[in-house]
Formats: sequence, C-alpha cells, structure tokens
Amino acid sequence: MALARGAAAPRLLEALARMEYRGYDSAGICTLDANGLHCVKAVGKLRELGRALAASPCPGRLGIGHTRWATHGRPSLENAHPHRAGPVALVHNGIIENHGALRRALEEEGARFASETDSETAAQLFARRLAEGMEPDRAWRATLAALDGAFALCALVEGEERIWFARKGSPLLLGRGADGIFAASDALALAGLADEVCYLDEGDWGVLDAGGLRLWDAQGKEKRPEWRPMPVVAAEATKGGFSHYMEKEIMEQPAVARRIAEAYLQDGAVVLPGLEPLREPPERLVIVACGTSYHAGLLARHWIERLLRVPVEVDVASEYRYRDPVIGPRTWMIAISQSGETADTLAALRMFRARTPENPAIALVNVPSSSLAREADGVVELLAGPEIGVASTKAFLAQCQVLALFTLWLAARMGVEPPAGAVRALARAHEGIEAALAVREAARRAVPEFADARGALFLGRGPGYPLALEGALKLKEITYLHAEGYPAGEMKHGPIALVDARLPVVVIAPRAHHLEKTLANLEEVQARGARVILASDLAEPPDVPGLRAFLRIPEGDGFTTPLFVAPALQWLAYEVAVARGCDVDQPRNLAKSVTVE
Ligand code: M6R
Repeated sequence: MALARGAAAPRLLEALARMEYRGYDSAGICTLDANGLHCVKAVGKLRELGRALAASPCPGRLGIGHTRWATHGRPSLENAHPHRAGPVALVHNGIIENHGALRRALEEEGARFASETDSETAAQLFARRLAEGMEPDRAWRATLAALDGAFALCALVEGEERIWFARKGSPLLLGRGADGIFAASDALALAGLADEVCYLDEGDWGVLDAGGLRLWDAQGKEKRPEWRPMPVVAAEATKGGFSHYMEKEIMEQPAVARRIAEAYLQDGAVVLPGLEPLREPPERLVIVACGTSYHAGLLARHWIERLLRVPVEVDVASEYRYRDPVIGPRTWMIAISQSGETADTLAALRMFRARTPENPAIALVNVPSSSLAREADGVVELLAGPEIGVASTKAFLAQCQVLALFTLWLAARMGVEPPAGAVRALARAHEGIEAALAVREAARRAVPEFADARGALFLGRGPGYPLALEGALKLKEITYLHAEGYPAGEMKHGPIALVDARLPVVVIAPRAHHLEKTLANLEEVQARGARVILASDLAEPPDVPGLRAFLRIPEGDGFTTPLFVAPALQWLAYEVAVARGCDVDQPRNLAKSVTVE
C-alpha cells in the first residue's frame, strides 16, 4: 500500500513487480481520490495488470495493491484482490480460518459476496461495521477482533483520506522515504521507495494519513513506530546476464560458500556470534523446516549424530507443530528457513518457545530481518544473498554449509574432536563447489533420458538420501515430472515396481558413504532396464553395462562431499526444465515464500 507524494499506482506496480518472483496468479490495484475508489484487476502476469491500468488509469496518491496466490477459490478476476464491499477496498495475505461462519452471518444480514475468497469476508465485515455507524478506527479494530487465522491486511474507505493496516501471523512492515510512506509484506517490495522501515509486531494495527502514522499493539495500546535503516535487499536482484535467476544462483554458490567461510571461520575455529549467548550445550536437538530447508536438516542429522552423539529429531514443520511432540529438557530447536517467513516453521518455533521457554530456539535464515530471526533466541544468517528463483539452490547449499559449521562449533563447545581436516575442508568448500559446477555439461547430456519419461527416481544412502530427496524435489518443482527420492535400501520395498525402460533413476553414490551397497542397488535397477544416471566422486564411471550418464562429483573429505553433490542435482533439474520449455524461475502453482499454512 502507498500514501505517496505523487501518483500511487506506478509505485504500487513497481513494488508488485519486485515481488513477482514469489509466484502469483492474479493481481490488482485500487487507489483513492476525491472521485472515490478506482480498482483494476487482471488474471495472469503483471503485464496484464499494466495493460488494464493503461486502459483505465487509477488516479490518486493513496492506494493498495496485491499479487494473489490462490488459496480459497480459483485464480479469476472476481477472486483477485483488492476486494470491494460498499465503501471498502481491501487486500489480504494469509488465511482467515473462520471465514465460513463469518460469511454465513454476513449473508444472513444481507451482504452479497462477489468472490469465493476468505479475504472478502474481512472487507465485508469492515463495511458492515462502518454501515452500523462505527467510527472507522473502531470499525477496523472490531473487524480485526472477529478474524481468526493469519493476516496482513490493508484497506481503503471511500471518502476517507487514510489507509488502515494490520498484521497477525503474516508479515507486514512499513517503509518511508522521499516518495511517501508505504506498507509491504517484504522489504524487497520497498527497495527504491523507502529509506527506513518499521517491522510490525504480531497483532499491531494502525492507520496512515497525511498527518502521519498511528500505531496500536494487539492490546489496543498506542505505540511509537521503531524506524530503522532500510536493509540492503535488492542489489543482487537482477539476472546479471544469465537466462534465469536459477542459473545465476547456481553459479553464485562458490562465492556464497567463500562468504560463509570468511564470516564464520576465524583462525581455524568456528565463530557464530549469533549463538554466543547460548550457554549449556544441548542434550537433544529438534530441527524443523519445510521443503528444501527440511532436506538440509536431514543432512545435518548425519553430521551431528555421527560426530557429537547428540540425538537429533528432524521434522517437517507442519507436522511438528500439530503432533503434540515430547520436548525434553536441554533441547535446542533449530528452525531452518531461507525466507524466515514460512508460516509452519514460524508456528513450530513459536510453539516450542511457548511450551519450553527455558529451551533455546535457533533460526538459520537468509533474511536477518525476517519474523523467524526476530523471534528466535539465536540467529545464524545464511549469507546467500537474495534468492529469487522459486527453486531454492544457493540457499540450500548455504544451509548445508552453515549446518556443517554449526556441527563443528558445537563440537568445540562440547570438547569433541572434529574429523581430521574438516575445518580446513569447510574453509575451502568454495573450491570444491566451483569444480562441481563443471558437471553441467554432463547433466545436459543426460537430458534426453528424460525426454519421454513419466517420472524419475532418485536413490541415495546416508547423506545421499536427503540429497536424493532434494534432487527429486528440484526436478518435480521446475520440470513438472513426477519424481521420488528414496533411501536406496528401501527401493526393493516398493518403488522397484516402477522400474521400466522409460524410468530415469539418479543414483547418488559418494565414495565415503556406503558406496558398494549403493552401487549394488544401482545394478538392481539397471538389470530391470532403468536409465541409470550416477552421481559420484569416483574417478571413473564404474563398469556397469548400459550406464546412461555419469555426473562426476569432485572428491571431498567425506564430511564436505555432500556439498559437492548438490550442484549436479540442480543442474540436472535446470537443464531438463529448460529443454522442456518450463518457466524455470516461476514454476506453476508455487510461491517463493509460503506465508500461509
Ligand atoms: O523459505 P523456506 O526455506 O522456509 O521455504 C521452505 C520451502 O517452501 C522451500 O524450500 C520450497 O520447498 C522451495 N520451493 C524448494 O525449492
């Protein structure tokens, strides 16, 4: 939303364009001037909205804008935001959980809904409270009090030169600069518009007008906004001559690895300043995350349990938060998230902190200003730089490297001797990752194996298993081919039935981790006609008749080898997606930051 010094619409469009990479299916803008509200919406990409705006401009200095990723109701003009209800126009991120009951009650009172969305309930409710004669600030507060679920909301009211906003469970921040005052779900949207930002706390709400900003907390107590300098967010957010952000981000991985080593290794010791206040070492660790970040957590379990003999539980955040977990004493939580805004990961962290306030919760995030970082007891920044491609690549590798460093950091605290040469190997991980990028050519040569495939299988053992999961996730996200990641030893317990002459099977077999057993599994699928692609740090491809492709991974010291496998899997997915003509950076149905559960 914008209260601009000039026209609001172009600034809103610019801000929405910065958030485009996150994925959306429709968009809209509504502005306010002396003639009332002006709303324009479009299904599809922002260029459609740009065209619609050119045909019917939205004048005015006040405005709200939104890109929608469908949750309730299909992508359509009616379901796109902003939603109108009487004099109200409103945009919403999140999910209003009691929308069904609210909708029924409002309809009984005569409200007519134009969309299938949960979001329109908030607009209708606000309009109803205004129609009852409530003063707008009170009507806004009453509206918020009636909503269950997660929301970041902004609203305009015809005839009122003000914008109302609120945050509960979904990110929202304010920004101010020479051009005006703004609110957005991410600082990136405000790059170039704001010099200072104010992160809203849970339950904060307020109103903006020409006279300034008024802000209240969840209890209704007025508070002073805390302004801080705008974070550096956008410097790297261009393709820099590459065809896709994903390609650029894969190529950036050696630089990221070097940055991480320089930041967290000093004189042969791991230094994690964000964790220094944590005193007692843990007796147990719980790792929660979603998607790719969860795979990094699974990989970390191998390092931590093997070296430290500390039990590690790794769970998908959406399961952990609802399964009533047993949390023992001296347990540390590690919440891993690129964005730091993933709703389930944030909720898992909050639940952990509320239940056992004596146990620390650590956030591993790429966005230090994110909600997860602000609510955690200790933070380690991933230092990957802005990741724009929806498919996570450099953030994954950064998570793995930081988790490997964390293992060594904890080892030093617990008086455990690290594996010989591990610190040196991590300090030079960027060299191995740089060498790993060269596997791209081999990955490209493997593309024909996927040409008529209906799906693919990824197999690995030990650390190779989370990598298999990650390889399969990358492939399915951006190529739309079905893919399964499986522990190679589990293959005979079901998935082997899938094997036929059209099935590509990617086998991850680093020498340091169960090589012989994994190669035996390779031969089993090979014997049944599968198109086998091997990713390994063997110097030469093994003598397996009919091996279709060999993705040669640089040799590591065992501890760091998993870091060198990831680029091969990323390139494979990337090259297959490009060959299939897929939208690599913004795959269908996906959002970069999943702020709804
Ligand atoms: O921002 P987060 O790391 O919390 O996001 C978690 C997942 O949504 C994310 O990793 C997702 O699986 C990616 N699209 C993977 O490429």
